[in-house]
Amino acid sequence: MTDTPLNIPMEKIPQHVAMIMDGNGRWALQRGLPRLAGHKAGTENLRRVIRATVEFGVKYLTIYAFSTENWGRPPEEVQGLMFILQDVIDRELDELNKQGVQLRHIGRLERLDPKIQKKVLHAIELTKHNDRMILNVAFNYGGRDEIVNAVQHIISDGIPAEDVTDELINQYLYTAGVPDPDLIIRTSGELRVSNFLIWQAAYSEWYITPTYWPDFDKDEYRRALEAFANRDRRYGKVSSGELQESNA
Ligand code: IPE
Ligand code: IPE
Ligand code: MG
Repeated sequence: MTDTPLNIPMEKIPQHVAMIMDGNGRWALQRGLPRLAGHKAGTENLRRVIRATVEFGVKYLTIYAFSTENWGRPPEEVQGLMFILQDVIDRELDELNKQGVQLRHIGRLERLDPKIQKKVLHAIELTKHNDRMILNVAFNYGGRDEIVNAVQHIISDGIPAEDVTDELINQYLYTAGVPDPDLIIRTSGELRVSNFLIWQAAYSEWYITPTYWPDFDKDEYRRALEAFANRDRRYGKVSSGELQESNA
């Protein structure tokens, strides 16, 4: 793997990158291995991607690790994924802390095994003052579930209807305080959202690659950032270049 620096001006580096880490199962299948071997390889890759994120100067990374729908997988796989999460925390926490990474969780923590909850809360507490990079781990996360949870809290807090605004809803999401993702990367070629950040992704740019997650390396990450840097984000308006031309 080459290690060429990023050829992008600072202001074109996304502040927040989100990743749908997909294709672990197919990666394993291709090698005649059990699906869990794919998840383990995916975890190894995650370590490299986190390091690259810090190096590239991306401030927020959100990773989709387990969806509210993933409970529907065979019990051995679900158990395996729960074990992998705990194992990753045990093995990686010190290193992440040293790198200045702040860990956060998005999703329904209270529906996870109490042992896992404890580990996650410990990791959040230990790293809460780090500010080099914020890593949001979406585990037992669903975009619809997040919105349902927000609406329930808005109602139980007695917020009057006229006070419900975009900004207020943002404050009630799991991602409160985190800017919307600028770039969402999905590996393994699937062209769908799969219930990920459905509110926050309103104006995100997408980068889809056929590469399976365990093989998504730093070079490909760099290419995604370079592609992003060349996008013209219009937010429903006309491009800034066109505006300048028509004013000239
Ligand atoms: C993504 O890989 C990891 C999780 C959803 C936990 P998959 O397990 O979905 O891999 P494929 O899509 O079956 O190849
Ligand atoms: C999305 O991938 C969830 C995660 C990566 C954690 P899935 O593999 O679950 O999504 P679908 O089933 O292909 O839509
Ligand atoms: Mg998948």
